[in-house]
Amino acid sequence: MPLLEAVRLEAQYGWTKVLHGLDFTVDEGGITTILGANGAGKTTTLRAVCGMLRTGGEILFDGRRIDGKATEAIVRLGIAHAPEGRGTFVGLTVEENLRLGAYGRRDRSGVARDFERVYQLFPVLAQRRRQAAGTLSGGEQQMLAVARALMLRPRLLLLDEPSLGLAPLVVREIFRAVRTINREERVSVLLVEQNASIALSLADHAYLIETGRVVMSGRADELRENEAIRRSYLGY
Ligand SMILES: Nc1ncnc2c1ncn2[C@@H]1O[C@H](COP(=O)(O)OP(=O)(O)OP(=O)(O)O)[C@@H](O)[C@H]1O
Ligand SMILES: [Mg+2]
Repeated sequence: MPLLEAVRLEAQYGWTKVLHGLDFTVDEGGITTILGANGAGKTTTLRAVCGMLRTGGEILFDGRRIDGKATEAIVRLGIAHAPEGRGTFVGLTVEENLRLGAYGRRDRSGVARDFERVYQLFPVLAQRRRQAAGTLSGGEQQMLAVARALMLRPRLLLLDEPSLGLAPLVVREIFRAVRTINREERVSVLLVEQNASIALSLADHAYLIETGRVVMSGRADELRENEAIRRSYLGY
């Protein structure tokens, strides 16, 4: 049974339909990526999973329907979202942002351990723990967004284009951290990306969407070999 399953997922803004019946899954312990160009519906898909939009179709988490639930309830089930544009609180320090990520957790010693863990994954955040998030570099802010999501101890991590606007070296560092938490703690990941090359190197399963429809899907290594994907999305 998949950890997350979307069945004929639909979403719209006002009268404009943006997702036209997407089917996709994330396996327990797996990394799934949804690839697509600007405006394809990637961000909308993650927002739909988080209950931030009214949706059609079904979304199941661990076999149970979550569509129609409030975002807070979905978060409590263990779904953490590192949103597009990072969504950190610019006026708060790194440490305060991380503490907010653990909001609602009661296991104090677990939270303390998780602070250490995210500082280990992203040492630069430890150095900057008292600095306001708004004064961090773009790459550091993206690390903070991922770290904050991890403070929830999620079962499923939703990542919205963590590579956007970052230098290749920083992107690799962030993806290395995601791989580590996936392998060592079996956190499942749903990653949406325009950067097909790096996303396919991390993921085990991939979907390509165009204007709110899945146009191709398969094992990530298969899609990497696919001629059309190579030409349009990998650029070689
Ligand atoms: N709040 C909104 N109101 C109206 N239309 C919206 C809204 N947000 C997104 N859309 C539209 O929905 C479509 C999908 O947008 P979405 O943000 O999901 O794309 P995306 O794949 O994340 O693109 P990008 O790679 O540029 O982030 C676009 O045509 C966009 O204009
Ligand atoms: Mg987007």
